[in-house]
Amino acid sequence: MTQPQSTRSPNWVESRISRTSDALDRAFDEGLTGHTITARKGKRVVLAGGGEALEFVSCSYLGLEEHPALIAAAEEALRRFGVHFSSSRNRMRPHYLHELEDLLSQMYGGSRAVAFTSVGTVHLGLLPLLGTGALPGYPIAPAGSAFLIEKTAHSSMQILRGLLGQIGPAHRFDLADPGSLDRALREVGETGRTPVVLVDGVGSMGGLIDVAGILAALRPYGGHLYVDDAHGISITGARGAGYAYEALGGRLPENVVIAGSLSKAFGGSGGFALVPSEADVRVLRKFANPLVFGHSIMLPLLAANVAAAELHVNGEVARLQERLWRNAETFDALTGGRLVNAGLRSPVRGALFPTEEEAFRAAAALKEAGILILPAFFPTVAKGTGLARFALSALHERADLECAAKVLEGTR
Ligand SMILES: Cc1ncc(COP(=O)(O)O)c(C=O)c1O
Repeated sequence: MTQPQSTRSPNWVESRISRTSDALDRAFDEGLTGHTITARKGKRVVLAGGGEALEFVSCSYLGLEEHPALIAAAEEALRRFGVHFSSSRNRMRPHYLHELEDLLSQMYGGSRAVAFTSVGTVHLGLLPLLGTGALPGYPIAPAGSAFLIEKTAHSSMQILRGLLGQIGPAHRFDLADPGSLDRALREVGETGRTPVVLVDGVGSMGGLIDVAGILAALRPYGGHLYVDDAHGISITGARGAGYAYEALGGRLPENVVIAGSLSKAFGGSGGFALVPSEADVRVLRKFANPLVFGHSIMLPLLAANVAAAELHVNGEVARLQERLWRNAETFDALTGGRLVNAGLRSPVRGALFPTEEEAFRAAAALKEAGILILPAFFPTVAKGTGLARFALSALHERADLECAAKVLEGTR
């Protein structure tokens, strides 16, 4: 029976709601987020309310979505198929799906990629199978598995804790606390369970996760590492395999799953899981819930993904990466190396403010100067603080970076 409201302790949704300030509502009300745009060209957007702005909001770090090859592929698909083909991928699918998965496989040295509609659906479809030992490439001890979710891992994984807890205990650890992972691994080891560790690769707000170090720590326990590298895909590696893959030695090591995004630097839409063998692919195809009981990536975007994957394989993406990293270096120099992530091979930079109020003032000053950023508040950053998040792109011009740095300087 449900307990009366006053005596039961709040569930996690209630706690989160009650601890969240009205900062996001206020940012909307003051026109500092939720911008409606009517057109865009590169990093310039036309605002519905009038005027143009320079944006540091989109996570398209290489600007591929306006590439003529992607646009032509989507237009051609529209003409040949219409806007959509309504079927789960196991029933009937356009030829683009296997072309995409083959090209992704080429990007990843022959490891197998399975495309999903989003990164969130990769998590939802794959993690229960991983924890159950259903994927042949990822054996689980007879005692079962235990999930260890890093504190800053993306919310799309955190939200699954309840679901994962039905398969094995699901606990959090904190990489900012040096002993936390080792302690958690020892505790899991004592139960005879196989640890499954969930982390980001390139953090969506800050930092690069030491995926190689975590994998080494996991080895003695026979554990598996699941990396959500949504922000890392395309931005590193000769074929754009991404941060985590390169940090793990330019291959998919045993016991590692990489979940990637096709919707950020990749230039298209969707997500994918990278696994070692066809045997794993067959299990995913048969049992990953969103693949069995859901649609494929929408057709024009699926065709655009194929075109984007070709640009990864043929080296064009590597040239765009150079521009991105040059821009990151320039922005770091212009901001005196003071921003969150300065010097890191991450396309995300953040100006941290000790109070929400100061972050509001900075976002307003930037907007006034025609520059749009993402203002972030709790639970994305520590309670009471604020962050102005800049997503850098290969398409930003030096003058764009100079302008943003100058306005930001005036707010400090
Ligand atoms: C690190 C990370 N993982 C997952 C997601 C969710 O991606 P999707 O919208 O494809 O589910 C995001 C979204 O921005 C993200 O930043």
